Amino acid sequence: MRQERTQVGIVGAGPAGLTLARLLELGGIDTVVLEDRSREYVEHRIRAGVLEQRTADLLVEAGVGERLQREGIVHHGIELQFDGERHRIPLSELADGRSIVIYGQTEVVKDLIAARLGSGLPLLFEVDDVGIHELESSEPQIRFRHEGDQHELTCDVVAGCDGFHGVCRPSIPDGLLSSFSREYPYGWLGILAEVAPSNDELVYAHHPNGFALSSLRSPQLSRLYLQCAPEEDLDEWPDDRIWAELQKRLGVAGWTLAEGPVLEKGVTGMRSFVVEPMQFGRLFLAGDAAHIVPPTGAKGLNLAIADVRLLAEALVGWYRTGNAELLRAYSANCLNRVWRAEHFSWWMTSMLHRPPGDDPFDLKLQLSQLRYLVTSKAAAASLAENYVGLEL
Ligand code: APR
Ligand code: PHB
Repeated sequence: MRQERTQVGIVGAGPAGLTLARLLELGGIDTVVLEDRSREYVEHRIRAGVLEQRTADLLVEAGVGERLQREGIVHHGIELQFDGERHRIPLSELADGRSIVIYGQTEVVKDLIAARLGSGLPLLFEVDDVGIHELESSEPQIRFRHEGDQHELTCDVVAGCDGFHGVCRPSIPDGLLSSFSREYPYGWLGILAEVAPSNDELVYAHHPNGFALSSLRSPQLSRLYLQCAPEEDLDEWPDDRIWAELQKRLGVAGWTLAEGPVLEKGVTGMRSFVVEPMQFGRLFLAGDAAHIVPPTGAKGLNLAIADVRLLAEALVGWYRTGNAELLRAYSANCLNRVWRAEHFSWWMTSMLHRPPGDDPFDLKLQLSQLRYLVTSKAAAASLAENYVGLEL
């Protein structure tokens, strides 16, 4: 058994864990990051791609935004499509000049890993049997196996950044957390295609066959999604069928979607989930470990970064002054933003997807809401300020 010590033990090397590690490094706090997958795996997992400006700014301030500033694509609007027509929502005009940056979460993760290893700080991949212990003591422990050795890492604090399926949240004793969730009868079939995006801005399309989204990763890479069943069988979706359905759902007069080789495809289910509080003893949860949003509002990554910004501030303050006030307020401060994003994501999802059963009343409500958004500046401004990210 190898006995080790650090100040903050971070479980999970997704955006939450890696950004927290970086912010704590800048605050002079020792951390060890533990990740159960390989570096190769986490650097190639295709995830979301919309950064709120405040998320991008934080990464730049933390010194990991060099490539983001070079390759990220700033967008000032999005388009909503329904009844076969597109309408632009001028985000920046409606939200005090704020914008969004298109830059893949995968790229954010690569940049953070490079910075961590560049600083020569501990980031262990392919750890096994991670267990969290003594959470109610002032010396919580993380036990794990790595390269054949058993380790016991004693910490001041454990940060549970291990995603929805991680071990941190389930290590909290039964009955102490309240969870809130909603399952949706939808999934997204997503593709990454080697073709220049056919539209400058993102298009969120409401269509009788179901929702579709046109997004991008770079000037040469399109990212496209179709509403499908949560357990949709990908074998039933050869590339031709995917393109035909995208053409149909995203089609408007005088425009065609350019097609190209499909580099990646997958189906993701959708759920909303929140656990309260986001803390137990010396364990603090952040990101997907504490909450999940359906992807329609593009909030998942941004929420994860917002959590760790608060956690880093609280920890740096505590180490400097011994004042635990911000640590005590961590969960409540996060949940304020989390619930706003939960509502926004649920609302966008409900407005744009076609529910099974095709209730005509639902359809009329969706279309009325969409028409309201594109004709009322007040309604559009509400979408815009949520989409670019509220200053909470
Ligand atoms: N031990 C160590 N690491 C673990 C364990 C474990 N037992 N279980 C899971 N992990 C790792 C996962 O392999 C993953 O790399 O924790 C990491 C969690 O990262 P994410 O799932 O990316 O979660 P988070 O960092 O909170 O980022 C949230 O990711 O899923 C998207 O839409 C979501 O954009 C949002 C973002
Ligand atoms: C993406 O580009 O992957 C993306 C964009 C917008 C969303 C969700 C995902 O709402």
